[in-house]
Amino acid sequence: MRGKPLYGYAAIAVVGLTLMLVLSFVGVNEKNARLALEGEGEQPPQQTVDTTDPMALGEQAYKSTCIGCHGGNFDGPMGNLNGLGDRHSKDDIINIIVQGGGADYPGMPPGLVDADKAAAIAEYLLEATK
Ligand code: HEC
Repeated sequence: MRGKPLYGYAAIAVVGLTLMLVLSFVGVNEKNARLALEGEGEQPPQQTVDTTDPMALGEQAYKSTCIGCHGGNFDGPMGNLNGLGDRHSKDDIINIIVQGGGADYPGMPPGLVDADKAAAIAEYLLEATK
């Protein structure tokens, strides 16, 4: 009978260990669930423009900077850009955008965008105004 109390301790130990395992398992699950939730909240806003694609960049820049004067269909109200590629090379267009219309296209303001954006816009316009 000397060993009997030990069974009692052993039983308590087993119950305790089982409880510990169950509780930590529940805890880990809860932590994962919380992390998943937090992760959702931290996700960056959906990227709508592929910044490595000049066409997409150009289209976005056109729509935010030029569309007020040149319109969604490139026919104004102020300057009709349709068939742009028949009148200008890509470099021409970049020059007009960066330096403004000057005497040739009065009313076309200079410095609306930097040269990189102007190049992207020119690429986009050459395709879109065909
Ligand atoms: C404040 C109004 C205005 C804004 C904003 C504007 N433009 Fe213009 N743009 C004009 C006017 C006016 C002309 C001259 C049109 C003409 O003489 O036929 C012109 C002419 C042009 C031309 C030459 C057109 C041709 O027929 O050869 C290009 C190219 C051009 N704009 C591109 C752009 C781009 C790209 C942007 C945006 C970065 C832009 N413009 C923003 C008013 C504007």
